[in-house]
Amino acid sequence: METKQVFDAVANKYDLMNDIMSLGSHRYWKECLIDWLAPQPNMNIVDVAGGTGDISKRFLKRVNGNGMATICDPNANMLDNGSKKRDVFEDCISRSCAFAEELPFKDNTYDAYIVSFGIRNFADIRKGLSEAKRVLKPKGRFMCLEFSKLENNHLAKLYEKYSMLIPKIGKLVVGDEAPYQYLVDTIEKFPSQEKFATMIKEAGFKNVEYRNIFNGVVAIHSGWKE
Ligand SMILES: C[S@@+](CC[C@H](N)C(=O)[O-])C[C@H]1O[C@@H](n2cnc3c(N)ncnc32)[C@H](O)[C@@H]1O
Repeated sequence: METKQVFDAVANKYDLMNDIMSLGSHRYWKECLIDWLAPQPNMNIVDVAGGTGDISKRFLKRVNGNGMATICDPNANMLDNGSKKRDVFEDCISRSCAFAEELPFKDNTYDAYIVSFGIRNFADIRKGLSEAKRVLKPKGRFMCLEFSKLENNHLAKLYEKYSMLIPKIGKLVVGDEAPYQYLVDTIEKFPSQEKFATMIKEAGFKNVEYRNIFNGVVAIHSGWKE
């Protein structure tokens, strides 16, 4: 299944399915990212693979609308579904339909580049990282929230069993299991925390660090442009 078809198929029920599949935990994981970002007033962020814009909305809530967020995603259905639910800080949001590998933004534009549950869908992760660095201002920050590898083997086995249920849940809620099988497959293929941290360093970011949440079910990576 093509990435575009996957997100076209799930766009209508994307937010609901996120809650069901993660048992609501995605809300906590995203708040952990925003905590670590430590948003400052007047910050200008780009939310790449932003989909319905959950990260941008959480960021704007933290700064009480005293900032700007650009939601960038190549899937117009995902963007549209996000804009239908008008946010209180809608005036601080702009949307751009584009791929992470070719961002339609000028060099040195953003204070922070955030990608949440999106980077494993990029056709070319290295190109995406190089674009992240290009559009960030000097001293700007790259942050990524993504499914990752569990540290504990017993938990990893349990998680593997749970993952096998995800396509079935997708079938029940959205009527199609293929997009959710895609989700499980891309999680499996995504590099480990250490390997991904190395890729971020190779893209030229400094002070690269990561934090595991729930034993590594997800990890948040952070790096800085010099
Ligand atoms: C799982 S959703 C994540 C949405 C949101 N960031 C969140 O955390 O809920 C993944 C998004 O990645 C987008 N995507 C897929 N390929 C992409 C690419 N090459 N560049 C940017 N975004 C991409 C999809 O259209 C989809 O909206």
